[in-house]
Amino acid sequence: MLIRPRRNRKSPVIRDMIQETHLSPANLIYPLFMLDGTGAKEEIKSLPGLYRLREKDVLKEVEQSIELGLKSFVLFPAVAEELKDKTASYGVSDKNFYHRIIRSVKSRFPEAILMSDVAMDPYSSDGHDGYVEDGKILNDETLPILVDMAIAQAEAGIDIIGPSDMMDGRVEAIRDGLDDHGYTDVSIMSYTAKYASAFYGPFRDALESAPKSGDKKTYQMDPANKYEALREADLDEEEGADFLMVKPALCYLDVIHVLKTHSNLPIAAYNVSGEYAMLKAACMNGWLDYDKAMPEMLLSIRRAGADAILTYFAKDFAQWYKNH
Ligand code: PBG
Repeated sequence: MLIRPRRNRKSPVIRDMIQETHLSPANLIYPLFMLDGTGAKEEIKSLPGLYRLREKDVLKEVEQSIELGLKSFVLFPAVAEELKDKTASYGVSDKNFYHRIIRSVKSRFPEAILMSDVAMDPYSSDGHDGYVEDGKILNDETLPILVDMAIAQAEAGIDIIGPSDMMDGRVEAIRDGLDDHGYTDVSIMSYTAKYASAFYGPFRDALESAPKSGDKKTYQMDPANKYEALREADLDEEEGADFLMVKPALCYLDVIHVLKTHSNLPIAAYNVSGEYAMLKAACMNGWLDYDKAMPEMLLSIRRAGADAILTYFAKDFAQWYKNH
């Protein structure tokens, strides 16, 4: 036998020498769910180990994460039902606790990178990402609402705007709105290929943001489609996005790969709530080894082509990374 691939695997030093894919906490963005008020943090049943955090707990979580080398966060507000309305007006309200917490994190930890979510669903009484009339999600009527939401977040000090709504033309509209208000340095990470996925279930539990009627299939992509993601990618690039994102990650590794080879922009992938819940459940049952399966899962997303990964495993991974 002339060729024996096993020679390149014969010792840990050789294996490390030729390791193709590397992952560190610098690649990760940690999602945090936030709740107004001063009470205790609230457990999220379908996301074991994760909580809806009050302001003081958010600061604590950010502090602990930074100590572990994890410095980027994406923030989601859990909004009380009585504050929700058809136009998502709480999203731009002066009283919005989301903006207050962003300000407070940025003033305590100026080095932290904070990313927002731009979509109507956390604030909408219809539970949709866009403006609803007669059961229809109206695209162009939604755009100014998203633009105002993004400007309010930029004013609060957000570093990266994350439009997750999948309305057509929203990246350009948000870019123009930010620039007109002097926020030329605020970045946009577009949810470019966001699929109508069953894996968002636990997230919607966390925010109580599930659609009150219908589904999201007229705006989120069909899980059957890969090349349609390239069309979305071209548009987001032309419209001024700084990063392209694929969501979910694990069932869509091929989409991450095709976007990475197609575009020169950095690619992000969102390892979503259902993917977290699935692995956690198996590990809690003793069916999988968390310390081995969790880093392997994240590495596979990176190997597929993701430069950055939004993941609920971020803090656990940072802890694991420190010990290895
Ligand atoms: C809201 C939004 C969703 C997620 C991120 N932003 C849910 C949805 O589109 O219904 C899902 C994230 C996750 O499941 O972890 N536009």
